Amino acid sequence: MKALILAGGKGTRLRPLTHTMAKQLVPVANKPVLHFVMEQIAEADIKEVGMIISPETGEQIQASIGAGDKWGVNTTYIMQDKPAGLAHAVKTARDFLGDAPFLMFLGDNLIQGGVKELVAQFNAGECDASILLKEVTNPSAFGVAVIDSEQHVQQLIEKPKNPPSNLALVGVYLFSPLIHEAIDRIKPSWRGELEITDAIQELLNMGHKVTARQLTGWWLDTGKKDDILEANRVVLDEYASTRVLGSVDEKSQVAGRVQAGAGSEIIESVIRGPVVIGENCRIIRSFIGPFTAVGNGSILEDVNIEHSVILDRCELRQVPRLEDSLIGTGAKVGKKNSEHKALHLFLGDDAEVIL
Ligand code: DAU
Repeated sequence: MKALILAGGKGTRLRPLTHTMAKQLVPVANKPVLHFVMEQIAEADIKEVGMIISPETGEQIQASIGAGDKWGVNTTYIMQDKPAGLAHAVKTARDFLGDAPFLMFLGDNLIQGGVKELVAQFNAGECDASILLKEVTNPSAFGVAVIDSEQHVQQLIEKPKNPPSNLALVGVYLFSPLIHEAIDRIKPSWRGELEITDAIQELLNMGHKVTARQLTGWWLDTGKKDDILEANRVVLDEYASTRVLGSVDEKSQVAGRVQAGAGSEIIESVIRGPVVIGENCRIIRSFIGPFTAVGNGSILEDVNIEHSVILDRCELRQVPRLEDSLIGTGAKVGKKNSEHKALHLFLGDDAEVIL
């Protein structure tokens, strides 16, 4: 069994963050989503990983994952010249995949509980594809499946206008090599992409067996700002532990599950977990409330913040109340100390400010 991670694509829905950062590297609880994916693949005991990358962000992905030794796997990078669809990505990885069965994992998806059991069941069974489904309230935004009472898949449609069910395809798939034959038979969709959903439908049309399992735990598709905040909340809630490596002065209070990295200083501040603070941060006269992640090297001075994600090297000063915010790497937010009440803004393309 091999694994194919899809870490290419454009990431337009997460702009402006993804002007400078691959969407699969956006951190959740201070860890890039793609690192969670690598962990879950390693847990499933898969050693050979193919990583689809794009010309725009491929270098960043390689710098972040390297050869994969951190997870005990061997990583091969496969360049997809344009984001022509998930099935196109599989086609591009044809040489790497050979005739091996494989797990395909979308690099921006996070699922609770990992894929170990799913992989073991696929290996023990005799079907040609296995998909993971989750009930959602907005099925039109996803691939959608219709299944019978025995969990056999009847029909699959990509982003239907009138969804025949509320079961969305989660970004984790298991395939036998027959999927390559199905991909060779499909045509690009209305959005110009070779859809993996259509290829699985083609497997069904060819008379092959596709089974589905419903995911009981959470699933987070981290494609948009609110998804990142929600992922941060869920992951901090589940995994945050107490581990303060930096210094906390006697005027500060740290309550609940709080992590702070080496070299970080907490001065005259209140931190109420679950919160994760990276390395070499300075938190001065501030309140950091639940479900907040602060990236490495960031400075917060006279700030009151909760339920937010602050990436690396940000500087936030004199911000009386900040909630539900996602602040990109190196961003500065501050207030001028003057009577003059006008705002002074220096915003990148596609930035969003709500006052
Ligand atoms: O998240 C689950 C959904 O993912 C499924 O329900 C849909 O059926 C499936 O088509 C897919 O839909 P999205 O529109 O959300 O896919 P997106 O374009 O965001 O791409 C998913 C991942 O694959 C992302 O990490 C980028 C990468 N990718 C995407 C394309 C189109 C590639 O590596 N190459 C590509 O050509």
